[in-house]
Amino acid sequence: MDHFDYRRGAMHVEQVPLAEIADAVGTPVYVYSTATLTRHVGVFRAALDKLKDPLVAFAVKANPNAAVLATLAGLGLGADVVSGGELLRALAAGIPANRIVFSGVGKTEEEMRLALDKGIYQFNLESQPEAEMLSQVALSMGRIAPVAYRINPDVDAGTHAKISTGKSENKFGIPYADAVAAYDRAAQLAGLDVQGVAVHIGSQLTDLAPLEAAFEKVGALIEVLRDHGHVIRTADLGGGLGVPYDPSQPVPPSPADYGAMVTRVTADWDVRLLFEPGRVIVGNAGALVSRVVRVKQGATQPFVIVDAAMNDLLRPSLYDAWHNIRAVKATEKRVTASVVGPVCESGDTFATNRDMEEVEPGDLVAFMTAGAYGATMANTYNSRALTPEVLVSGGKWAVVRARSPIETLIAGDSIPDWVKA
Ligand code: LLP
Repeated sequence: MDHFDYRRGAMHVEQVPLAEIADAVGTPVYVYSTATLTRHVGVFRAALDKLKDPLVAFAVKANPNAAVLATLAGLGLGADVVSGGELLRALAAGIPANRIVFSGVGKTEEEMRLALDKGIYQFNLESQPEAEMLSQVALSMGRIAPVAYRINPDVDAGTHAKISTGKSENKFGIPYADAVAAYDRAAQLAGLDVQGVAVHIGSQLTDLAPLEAAFEKVGALIEVLRDHGHVIRTADLGGGLGVPYDPSQPVPPSPADYGAMVTRVTADWDVRLLFEPGRVIVGNAGALVSRVVRVKQGATQPFVIVDAAMNDLLRPSLYDAWHNIRAVKATEKRVTASVVGPVCESGDTFATNRDMEEVEPGDLVAFMTAGAYGATMANTYNSRALTPEVLVSGGKWAVVRARSPIETLIAGDSIPDWVKA
């Protein structure tokens, strides 16, 4: 559920008409709803209410905007970070270091040093060389790094190949069969305190079965590791729960279904459970609002050309992702059209032959469910300014990232004298 609704013939976010924001800030613009964020955190938390002291660490990569992170920090969430930059953002937004988990296959020595210095809760290690490097870095600083190994359970998450992470051919985690040997070796490394196990098999999962299969494997591994004398105090179950994008498709499992499954499967693990949800917290809390530049009659269908492009919302061109596209001004009229951006690539297509509400040049459209992996994946391709972001709460709204003027982009480059000469 979200707080984007039609009232008096126009889409509102909470109490604010989207058109008011678009007129004031310009388009394209990302708009986020605080009430939706708050609701999603509450629903996710409630789903875990039978667990003892779970740590919900928001996957910062899904939406790293400072105002969004500060909102989530205020609701008590921790952070799952995958770079030094994300770590600094999470801390700056007020997320305490003891609620931060550091994931990722390529942590550098510098990033390890930063995270150790800040005193994060856990490093999720993804290889033996990484374990050895972290141990050395920690010892050089007189610290002990709290770690878990991310296990690759070789489970097919049944999602898009580019966001599937738990198959043996994926780069993530250590092979399940190598896990015991890896823990045995890590126990010998003086700079590490091995405290847990981690798993994450992919994103936009619409079926709980692969998650359950992966968690069963983690549970079995915890027993084997304990038999080998390892102390396992935490289990990080990652993120991945899908959200509804297409209203004509079956609704993905709810956080309540997910929580019930987790509670059942982990009943006798005797660990603190960690979660890294991203999309399910922020996905439906955001929309990308764009204006129709013109409508062009193609050979086979009309093209609705909007002022947002693949650089603003990359998901459709990268993953063939489906986003609902709504006319901001309510209308009963429908049309079958393709919705495209101005970028010079055929891949700059948001929808093909889409049955949608009819729109005219100058009208606003809203790309729904764009709060996760939207603005954060935006770029400046075709020398387009980075998309601004707005946060709404009730009847108030504020720009939480300004549109970067194109002059700033140009000024970022420099021309060496020998080119000028
Ligand atoms: N934990 C780890 C280790 C991850 O790699 C990810 C996402 C998450 C948690 C959060 O997953 P979520 O709950 O959001 O599914 N850009 C793609 C999604 C990439 C996901 C990468 N990892 C998209 O737009 O669909």
